Amino acid sequence: MSKRKSPQELRSHRWLGVSDLRAFGHRSRLRQGGYDAADFAGKPVIGIINTWSDINFCHTHLRARAEDVKRGILQAGGFPIELPAMSLSEPFVKPSTMLYRNLLAMETEELLRSHPVDGAVLMGGCDKTTPGLIMGAISMGIPAIYVPAGPMLRGNWHGEVLGSGSDAWKYWDEKRAGRIGEEQWQEIEGGIARSYGTCMVMGTAATMMAIAEAVGMTLPGASSIPAADSGHPRMCAQAGRRIVNMVWEDLTPQKILTSAAFDNAIRVHMAMGGSTNAIIHVVAMARRAGLPMDMKRFDDISRQIPVLANIRPSGDLLMEDFFYAGGLRALMAELAHTLDLSCLTVTGKTVGDNIAGAEVYKPDVIRPFNNPVSSAEATAVLTGNLAPNGCVMKPSAADPRLLRHRGPALVFEDYNEMASQIERDDLDVTPDHVLVLKNGGPKGGPGMPEWGQLPIPTKLLKIGVKDMLRISDARMSGTSYGACILHVAPESFVGGPLALVRTGDEIEVDVPARRIHLQVSDEELARRRAAWAPPAPRYPRGYGALYSQHIGQADEGCDFDFLAPLGAIPEPEIH
Ligand code: FES
Repeated sequence: MSKRKSPQELRSHRWLGVSDLRAFGHRSRLRQGGYDAADFAGKPVIGIINTWSDINFCHTHLRARAEDVKRGILQAGGFPIELPAMSLSEPFVKPSTMLYRNLLAMETEELLRSHPVDGAVLMGGCDKTTPGLIMGAISMGIPAIYVPAGPMLRGNWHGEVLGSGSDAWKYWDEKRAGRIGEEQWQEIEGGIARSYGTCMVMGTAATMMAIAEAVGMTLPGASSIPAADSGHPRMCAQAGRRIVNMVWEDLTPQKILTSAAFDNAIRVHMAMGGSTNAIIHVVAMARRAGLPMDMKRFDDISRQIPVLANIRPSGDLLMEDFFYAGGLRALMAELAHTLDLSCLTVTGKTVGDNIAGAEVYKPDVIRPFNNPVSSAEATAVLTGNLAPNGCVMKPSAADPRLLRHRGPALVFEDYNEMASQIERDDLDVTPDHVLVLKNGGPKGGPGMPEWGQLPIPTKLLKIGVKDMLRISDARMSGTSYGACILHVAPESFVGGPLALVRTGDEIEVDVPARRIHLQVSDEELARRRAAWAPPAPRYPRGYGALYSQHIGQADEGCDFDFLAPLGAIPEPEIH
């Protein structure tokens, strides 16, 4: 551990500690805010990057929780300043929050850089906020701790437990098939989201919060605490106390985020049966930290780690059950023999120290290695002539009969075409067809919307078909399930082979062999390629144009090319 910093070595000293006209201006403005020298002189200034907003109900409590964080910072002798950042509310932001993850990362980095901040508390949880905040903090490089919003309470309808997303898809299909009516549908709408907090299935939010903890960026156990539990504000205050000492210790993300730490996080991801979206985010986070990372790492680890967390969509239960069963510390203790226990974390201690003494209280929720939730892996990365740079699938959430499948393609050129066709009773489709959606990728969506769980055609739903093979360059909500092959790279919009598929082409998928193959000759594909014309750019100006020019493909983590490299950026001039 580095020696403790002196007050003169604090970054904020340049703004607040020196004796010149600019520092006079800074201090006089703090006094304008009612603060005195005793409040800030020689103290670490902690920026609280808060993604609370009126339109993000996953983060409703973060407004109050920021006060708990401040309480902890003040107790430990720091000076808190809250810096609001974009909220990226998953249910409301269109076309996709993924379009804006990098914008949040930029905002986080630049908020920290441009203000007199020595350390950061990152408050988020709703899907893209976790990677966005952490990517920005990595690039900024000052000590940072992540405070997860925590999952909401279980949903409830007529005594049935409802899970975010997963049960919406399930009951929507029931409604489309005529098995429930409008009144029951309305009741479900009122019962599926009962409290503030993130989605409480193993969706992207729960996955990314767990990954943030496993990689060492949260306090131990923080990611499992339900948002409405009194342990949550206590964790927030503790994080506030801890960040002040992290500043004195100069415990930066760079010291925590090693290749071994990311491997630990991927192992946890697999054991949780985590969202496929996390693959994109972890690749981006690791590359921000200057580490090599690609999708193959997930496939390699997936083969070693079974799904242990019995949480939907791979299992039956919800994050609240997971918390009562011992939470992430207990799961990591179950995985301990596979983890690098020497990795450093924000506590200043190792992963091994943090999980010492953790116990599984409910072995039906957190399963032992010899009794996993699923024998199918949580993630498979396939390659072949249809996805030369890879694509991903979640075998544990798919009908096993579709893990080896060959069938004719039914191609939709874009989402609107799919939406206009899928309900048709005369659609020429059988359960053996492979549904293909184009133009759902990073540039084509744009923003890789979560369209990858294409609806089962109504005609097939009515005869009881529950799963089909579906292929796209889009993403899928972590709350979704089904034999959906996602993130096909390169995407169709930039001329990836997916752009060349036509209805009737045979597609063969062999998940155990990690293979995806379009049964069309190379000569025919070359002819189709010669006839293919790139679509017009989506955006003529603005952020969208910047995004389109610089966004990477899914296998690269979808970061901007100018943000991804590691490297010091000059500190702002203080004149
Ligand atoms: Fe916010 Fe799912 S909508 S976490």
